[in-house]
Amino acid sequence: MSGPLVLGIETSCDETGVGIVRGRTLLFDAIASSVEEHARFGGVVPEVASRAHLEAMVPTVERACREAGVRLADVDAVSVTAGPGLAGALLVGVASAKALALALGVPLYGVNHLAAHVAVDVVEHGPLPEPTMGLLVSGGHSNLLLVPDVTDDIRSLGATIDDAAGEAFDKVARVLGLPFPGGPHIDRVARDGDQVAIDFPRGLTSGRDLQRHRFDYSFSGLKTAVARWVQAREATGQPVPVADVAASFQEAVVDVLTRKAVLACAEHGVGDLLIGGGVAANSRLRALAQERCDAAGIRLRVPRPGLCTDNGAMVAALGAQMVMKGRPESRLDLPADSSQPVEQVRA
Ligand code: KG4
Ligand code: ZN
Repeated sequence: MSGPLVLGIETSCDETGVGIVRGRTLLFDAIASSVEEHARFGGVVPEVASRAHLEAMVPTVERACREAGVRLADVDAVSVTAGPGLAGALLVGVASAKALALALGVPLYGVNHLAAHVAVDVVEHGPLPEPTMGLLVSGGHSNLLLVPDVTDDIRSLGATIDDAAGEAFDKVARVLGLPFPGGPHIDRVARDGDQVAIDFPRGLTSGRDLQRHRFDYSFSGLKTAVARWVQAREATGQPVPVADVAASFQEAVVDVLTRKAVLACAEHGVGDLLIGGGVAANSRLRALAQERCDAAGIRLRVPRPGLCTDNGAMVAALGAQMVMKGRPESRLDLPADSSQPVEQVRA
């Protein structure tokens, strides 16, 4: 096992993540989540998340070191999510990382959360082919990314023009009376449903939309279509077939996600597709992507579900790749940038 020992901190949303990697080897990934504190509000409450990060930070750093079997004094560099994300939540991570880097006398790397979702796969499947096509699907983002170099060069080919894929899962789950966050519940319930029971719309996939928004996504019309369908059903007095609605909705989402990702690979001559972000944990997305990639001769990489949702390992993994590629470190006055663009890999 060789390479720099990097501690990565993630606090962009409701997970306090501290990961430790050596080179491309993950030593430990410690996570404290405040998701249960937000569940009754049906979404993440920023101030609650910030406070939870503050309380969890020191114990989570200590646990990560203990479980990884390393001392803080051995750490070669500290990396941290500088954006995008919730401003107050990001600030807790950035301030903690600065304090650690300063106290340890090691370089600090402020990195992009979305790039980290792509970079994390090196700890599981080895170095990223250059270029790789990235499909990033989370609660806040849905992007198609051409990634010539995850430490330096990421190009956005398209993104959602309204709701993110995970947001659509969460909103539809709410309509179906499933708990927050809804993605895993829809995934589970849909296994007993029929994915062709209801023909829900596929956004931006036909005619002029496909020309103008070739690699963009839209899920807000789909969400509305599901809500209308459920309302109409309720009005008849019949029970709502939750499993069929969940399966049909999920199919509409993953159909468009995978169709455009495979199209992007073909049109850009890229032979490797990587799917990352919380929605990449979805079992149907993983299965359909595999099917379509096999048919198109594309190699598919998807990190294991625990590395798809937000975590510290992804930040550590990207930080270690920055160190290994000799990228410049960040300054200690590094700001948190809640709307950091995806092309800006380093803060
Ligand atoms: O990447 P992530 O942990 O946080 C953000 O950066 O947003 O993604 C969270 C999102 C939530 O919307 C959640 O419902 C969704 O990922 N998600 C899933 C699954 N697991 C998590 N969506 C569909 N199927 C899943 N199995
Ligand atoms: Zn994320």
